[in-house]
Amino acid sequence: DRVVVLAGGLSPERDVSLRSGHRIAEALRRVDVEVSVHDVDATLFAHLAADAGVVVFPVLHGVSGEDGTVREVLELAGVPYVGAAPQACRFAFDKPLAKAIVSRAGLRTPASVTLPRQVFHDLGAAALSRLILDKLGLPVFVKPRAGGSAFGVTAVRGRDELAEALMSCFGYHDEALIELAVSGTEITVGVLDLGGEPVALPAVEIVPDSGVYDYTARYTPGATEFFCPARLPAAVLAEAAHAALTAHRALGLRDLSRTDMIVDRDGRVHVLETNVAPGMTDTSTFPIALGAAGYDFGIVCRDLAAHAAD
Ligand code: DAL
Ligand code: MG
Repeated sequence: DRVVVLAGGLSPERDVSLRSGHRIAEALRRVDVEVSVHDVDATLFAHLAADAGVVVFPVLHGVSGEDGTVREVLELAGVPYVGAAPQACRFAFDKPLAKAIVSRAGLRTPASVTLPRQVFHDLGAAALSRLILDKLGLPVFVKPRAGGSAFGVTAVRGRDELAEALMSCFGYHDEALIELAVSGTEITVGVLDLGGEPVALPAVEIVPDSGVYDYTARYTPGATEFFCPARLPAAVLAEAAHAALTAHRALGLRDLSRTDMIVDRDGRVHVLETNVAPGMTDTSTFPIALGAAGYDFGIVCRDLAAHAAD
């Protein structure tokens, strides 16, 4: 089968997606898989329809790519693709919904409030700050309800910073997730699910030089130090692996996912979110974890495509 890597798209994470996609395409070529990279544009449907024996590897991050929309098109076109089905993507990509689902599955996730832009405008910044900060306390993270790569995310440490954080968030989404910031160690755990029992990859510990894992820290080589496996006690690593597998199952995902978490000072694991199209750039954690676990990146990508085509 020929693999069509879908990369680019229309979300703010377009550039990240192109980097992830080209890296996957290179890795697939190295293991002799015929591969092309295609953007999401008006020619996509015709391109897929013209070609039987194609497997799509969606490497689209953000809105329309990761929320299930493009996968819906693939379903309609009857083309096999790597990764979760549209409905599961919709759940996973919606942070408040995903938090509710993993919390029902018994996982810990930081307390939060979801705030529509209109409520912010109606109530005014001062009243809202009181309401939200009385309910959650400080510090909090303000995040777009759905999105990735830290676009529109602000850490709020003081009451007077909330309004500005919300306005920047509303540039990306009409609803904000305001989430209690848990201090501790930031880790992420990939899951590979190629038939049989899903497997958790070793946890990657994320230590940004700046202290904040923002866009620059994510995608500038050397700006963040990664430790894999994370420097945490075995029992905590086991709990993190369990959390990633539980989130993967509870959200109904398949093939691959990556769950981001904070381990607090008492060793408790707090789940932030699960990504259905984890970044695959040179500085992304999923490939780091694969490498640490002894997998060849190209062979894993080939196996994922083959599994999707089955
Ligand atoms: N949203 C980025 C690509 C990630 O989670 O890796
Ligand atoms: Mg994400």
